[in-house]
Amino acid sequence: MEIDAKRMTIGFVGTGTITEAIVTGLGKTEFRDTPIVLSPRSESVAARLAAANRNVSIALGNQDVLDRSDLVFVAVRPQIAEEVVRALRFRPSHHVISFVAATPLDRLRAWIDQPVRLSQAIPLPFVADLQGATAIHPPDEVSNAVFSALGAAVQVESKREFDLLAVASSMMGTYFGIMDATAAWLEGQGLPRAAGDAFLRQLFSGLDHAARSKPVTSFDELVGEHSTKGGLNEQVLEDFRGFGGTVALQKALDRVLTRIRPAESDFS
Ligand SMILES: NC(=O)c1ccc[n+]([C@@H]2O[C@H](COP(=O)([O-])OP(=O)(O)OC[C@H]3O[C@@H](n4cnc5c(N)ncnc54)[C@H](OP(=O)(O)O)[C@@H]3O)[C@@H](O)[C@H]2O)c1
Repeated sequence: MEIDAKRMTIGFVGTGTITEAIVTGLGKTEFRDTPIVLSPRSESVAARLAAANRNVSIALGNQDVLDRSDLVFVAVRPQIAEEVVRALRFRPSHHVISFVAATPLDRLRAWIDQPVRLSQAIPLPFVADLQGATAIHPPDEVSNAVFSALGAAVQVESKREFDLLAVASSMMGTYFGIMDATAAWLEGQGLPRAAGDAFLRQLFSGLDHAARSKPVTSFDELVGEHSTKGGLNEQVLEDFRGFGGTVALQKALDRVLTRIRPAESDFS
């Protein structure tokens, strides 16, 4: 039977940056009336969210979140996750979704005292503006309903695929780093920083629009559509590749993968 996620009470254990982004986003969706229960820490974030949303309340503590919720998001930092989760008494009917980085499902399962339904997700901060790209593993209809409302959700069957999406999500800083390096070069050549920044924001925004408006066009085809044969765009990409840009990027991604999965060298 299909579960209606909007009719569940959603609890958050850990009320920090990502919880604030999710609750803010949900307030702009069909989940706006879904009851949400927050753990009291961080106090300031919980108070802000409860004041801004009439469906949001603050629990007495982490156990109170569980006692009042059907769907539980675990949103504490990895360093304290085991201590926090082991201290909780779950119900077998709980639906649990963990955001805790670098903590695989089998470890989480060992900390939970009931055979709950358990999955993982990697929400990103732009869920607040309904622009999320959220990886989910294993596929989970409730998680998919929540994160599809907050942007796009990508569900994958295997841990390997989930880890690869985690690697992909580490590109955010580099995306802005490319903009920053370009802006710095323009400034070094004499263009006022404000003019370069304004131009690059609009340029990348236009490229983002092109990528989104053609969801079945491959990136390789988009490269072709944005690089006239023998033109300047083609030249920059060829130089970027020729000077080792692609190799550097892929080496960096390799190193993230090794950090995520240090013990698994064969990656099978
Ligand atoms: N931020 C992201 O973009 C993002 C994306 C994907 C996944 N994640 C994952 O989501 C989790 C949370 O990340 P975050 O960025 O939201 O971290 P964060 O801003 O540090 O939030 C964690 C919150 O947990 C609270 N906390 C500390 N001890 C607690 C306890 N014993 N019980 C309940 N709450 C407690 C902290 O409160 P105090 O401030 O009072 O200590 C803090 O508000 C992490 O595992 C992270 O890997 C984050």
